[in-house]
Amino acid sequence: MKGTLCILLAATVMCCLAACGSTQPAPAAQPQQTQTPAPTQTEQTPPPAEPSPQTAPETSAPPAEPAPETPAPLPETSGKEVLVVVFSVTGTTKGVADKIAALEDADLYEIRAAQEYTSADLSWHDSKSRTTLEQNDKALRPEIGSDPISLEGYTTVYIGYPIWWGEEPRIMDTFVESYDFDGITVIPFCTSGSSGIGRSGKNLAENAGSGTWLDGKRFGAGVSETELQSWIDSLK
Ligand SMILES: Cc1cc2nc3c(=O)[nH]c(=O)nc-3n(C[C@H](O)[C@H](O)[C@H](O)COP(=O)(O)O)c2cc1C
Repeated sequence: MKGTLCILLAATVMCCLAACGSTQPAPAAQPQQTQTPAPTQTEQTPPPAEPSPQTAPETSAPPAEPAPETPAPLPETSGKEVLVVVFSVTGTTKGVADKIAALEDADLYEIRAAQEYTSADLSWHDSKSRTTLEQNDKALRPEIGSDPISLEGYTTVYIGYPIWWGEEPRIMDTFVESYDFDGITVIPFCTSGSSGIGRSGKNLAENAGSGTWLDGKRFGAGVSETELQSWIDSLK
């Protein structure tokens, strides 16, 4: 019995010793990954470089070609054969032009000065006013501001203007020198306070240098459609 107890005691001591061995202090702790906060994505890797022109992937769209410069398209022709061209600052000649265009079922084209005429410009009492200076210089060619027109398809062109100092305004010379009237019958007409058409039609024909020019006619502001129609008929 005593011997059995001794064996049991010895076994117990052995077990205790074995158990104590498992509770030995752990080795000095190594830094564990979980102990330090994991670096964020941005800290881990630099942000992707902006694609430079040299490193752009081959699949990226090629840089847009600069649009080729194309001239502004001319307005399409209406199919009409008669055109009424008019320059009018205070509206009188425009009123006559509208009537001719209606009677002739014609297109209308208005000449506008690039620099509009002011009432001071129109003063004929002022020897230094714009119109006085322009009319005193036969070589002067005021710039036209309205879009150019194609004369293609027109066989007859009426050209209307006010009389300034007994002649056509210089901008009318700018107009006729800018176009080719070959194959076109050109008919001048004008309005005025009282003066006749004078040499203005002939001046325009000479400066144009092309086209078949008929004698023109002067009208007053209140000319009727009947009077205009009989004039139109007399031209044919
Ligand atoms: C600068 C200037 C000069 C003019 N010269 C004359 C002229 O020599 N003879 C005439 O009868 N009328 C003359 N006038 C009057 C215009 O011919 C007339 O008012 C015309 O009908 C105006 O046309 P519009 O309203 O289409 O611009 C002149 C007008 C201006 C502004």
